[in-house]
Amino acid sequence: MRAVDLIRKKRDGQELTTEEISFLVRGYSEGQIPDYQMAAWAMTVFYRGMSARETADLTMQMASSGDTIDLSSIHGIKVDKHSTGGVGDKTTIVLGPMVAAAGVPVAKMSGRGLGHTGGTIDKLEAIRGFSVELAKEQFFRQVNDIGIAVVGQSGNMTPADKKLYALRDVTATVDSIPLIASSVMSKKIAAGADAIVLDVKTGSGAFMKTLEDSIRLAKAMVEIGTQVGRQTVAVISDMDQPLGYAIGNALEIREAVDTLRGEGPADLEEVCLILASHMLILGGKASSEEEAKAILLEHLRSGEALEKLKKMVAAQGGDTTQIDNPELLPQAEIQVEVLAERSGFIESIQAEEIGIAAMVLGAGRETKDSKIDLAAGVELRKKIGDPVVAGEALAVLHFNPEHREGKGEAEQRILGAYGISETKPPKRPLVFALVT
Ligand code: URA
Repeated sequence: MRAVDLIRKKRDGQELTTEEISFLVRGYSEGQIPDYQMAAWAMTVFYRGMSARETADLTMQMASSGDTIDLSSIHGIKVDKHSTGGVGDKTTIVLGPMVAAAGVPVAKMSGRGLGHTGGTIDKLEAIRGFSVELAKEQFFRQVNDIGIAVVGQSGNMTPADKKLYALRDVTATVDSIPLIASSVMSKKIAAGADAIVLDVKTGSGAFMKTLEDSIRLAKAMVEIGTQVGRQTVAVISDMDQPLGYAIGNALEIREAVDTLRGEGPADLEEVCLILASHMLILGGKASSEEEAKAILLEHLRSGEALEKLKKMVAAQGGDTTQIDNPELLPQAEIQVEVLAERSGFIESIQAEEIGIAAMVLGAGRETKDSKIDLAAGVELRKKIGDPVVAGEALAVLHFNPEHREGKGEAEQRILGAYGISETKPPKRPLVFALVT
């Protein structure tokens, strides 16, 4: 078999066999197929697409390219959740404890952020002493003991995806539905859950800007899950503006804690309840969204969900006084308001621009090796539909003196991100569709 023949075959619109996909993935990850041939193949996939069978084959080849996690020593149905990247997305930190309190084990491996989207692991590290690295046995034991553990991806999971993703990143082939679907699902499958809830974001801050593309991506991922025997559902949720008001690691932990206290932003609470409901249904603890929501609300209102977060923080070495008193979390030395230049109603907020503003203040990584400032970020004061008067604050920048030079850019990006109109825009749904 030769890579050039497989590139030509896909270029001409034909379907590759399971063996041919295996040859490409194995050859590339082992270094026999060079970057330029794999890049050419990725571009042919970008234009020609892949069948459901080819996408499932690519997924399984990447899933088995490195370590896979066997969660069978954890009792119960393990349900994983994955969000396809967003700004201000702290859903795992809110819904993980809610789901665990309702009796579905949460054995979660999360990633770090790169660029304008934050990673759950970085956010949790804003809690003093919190360790995101647990030995496998300790990880399993903690989930069996308290129902939840959230750790970073360890070892050598899905190295073929890692290598291909880095190549796609520099060859304009990231935004291909079969390539995104197989990349996401390969990691979920290697992480070992029995069932998967996908939170596919749609809108200005998401990979998929239109609802049609988001539904196509969701369908591709659900189909992969079904083909490989992992029950999968996808919720299409709004990322046309950041979720909640806080963007930045410590700021987001604070907002997550507020939400677990029942005092968080309505959009964040609602999205978490919907995603968590589907986790409960797949985990066999409820038979309808209404029933699941009622169970979750009970755990939220009783304080049990917040208690679960505290137990997890304590078990992973973190300082629970920062959960009891979130003002003890890292705080930036400087806070500057960004003021509206005109009056009206907030019509749009470019989520990606807000994410980049937080990044230039130190909250995110521009490259893999950048060090992040846990206290830095952006706190929104206005969301879509809110009235605003010229001179009122749209947002507050949080930064430390070392990132002072980012202030001007952050301010400009925030002013540019907010669209202000004379009339109140219609309310956008938070969740657009469910794909099963
Ligand atoms: N996230 C992933 O893990 N992979 C992609 O291809 C895109 C987003």
